[in-house]
Amino acid sequence: MRKLAIVTGGARGIGRGCATALVKKGLDIAIVDMLSPEMARTKAELEALGARVEVFEADVSDFARAGEVVAGVMAAFGRIDVLVNNAGRGNPAGILEITEESYDRTIAVNLKSCFNYIHHAAPHMLAGGGGRIVSMSSLNAHSGGVTSAVSKFSYAAAKAGIIGMTRALAKELGPTIAINAICPGVIETELGNSLTKARGPELMKGIALGRLGTPQDVGELVCFLATVEPNFITGQNFIIDGFQWVC
Ligand SMILES: NC(=O)c1ccc[n+]([C@@H]2O[C@H](COP(=O)([O-])OP(=O)(O)OC[C@H]3O[C@@H](n4cnc5c(N)ncnc54)[C@H](O)[C@@H]3O)[C@@H](O)[C@H]2O)c1
Repeated sequence: MRKLAIVTGGARGIGRGCATALVKKGLDIAIVDMLSPEMARTKAELEALGARVEVFEADVSDFARAGEVVAGVMAAFGRIDVLVNNAGRGNPAGILEITEESYDRTIAVNLKSCFNYIHHAAPHMLAGGGGRIVSMSSLNAHSGGVTSAVSKFSYAAAKAGIIGMTRALAKELGPTIAINAICPGVIETELGNSLTKARGPELMKGIALGRLGTPQDVGELVCFLATVEPNFITGQNFIIDGFQWVC
């Protein structure tokens, strides 16, 4: 029986990299995203690799919609083995100019979204006897970002929240479910590109491996945490940044 992974924000970028790596390991995929044309394109790409793929249009910050999506996934596939909480977005506003609405939106899309999908998916994973959850934090959770970053304190706060949530839920959901967080440095995607366009050459000089990351780099790490057997890893956060010392 093929396993099933939900990948939020799977239409493009890092999410598409995660979905591709999981498909190559033999998993079927449920993509949750707001970008319909990109979702359709990614679905076709993944199907060409041999997977069954269903797409669910949803804003991940919407708790009730998360419940509907998870119910839809169970109706379609009958199981949830892996949840990748990847959807997220930056916020360039500093503390003195940010509005309350903008702050709330950053926390909702990056952090509450993880709660929304874990809350609805975990009961099915527990009933199924096991599961893996991987949530996308950021190097910013550790570094705080920099003044020129596309993502400032509200993003760093949300991403640091994911690390705390991951540690606490590893205790609550273990030993049946393993849950970990990933902290990417600069990855070449639509989101990452807005930062690299401005500071690309300077950034690359400060990365030990001499290049920016790719969605495939992150996808392979997510896939490892989602599928490795036997598994003795939970409650951790993994920095994947080529060792970047200029943040
Ligand atoms: N690219 C980087 O350098 C980098 C670094 C560290 C962490 N991250 C994190 O990795 C994750 C993926 O980023 P990316 O670079 O691939 O970004 P991206 O913008 O290329 O892709 C993000 C995907 O998430 C979807 N999404 C965004 N908000 C959503 C919402 N409210 N509901 C449903 N879907 C939504 C988008 O439609 C898009 O398909 C994010 O959580 C981001 O914060 C990225």
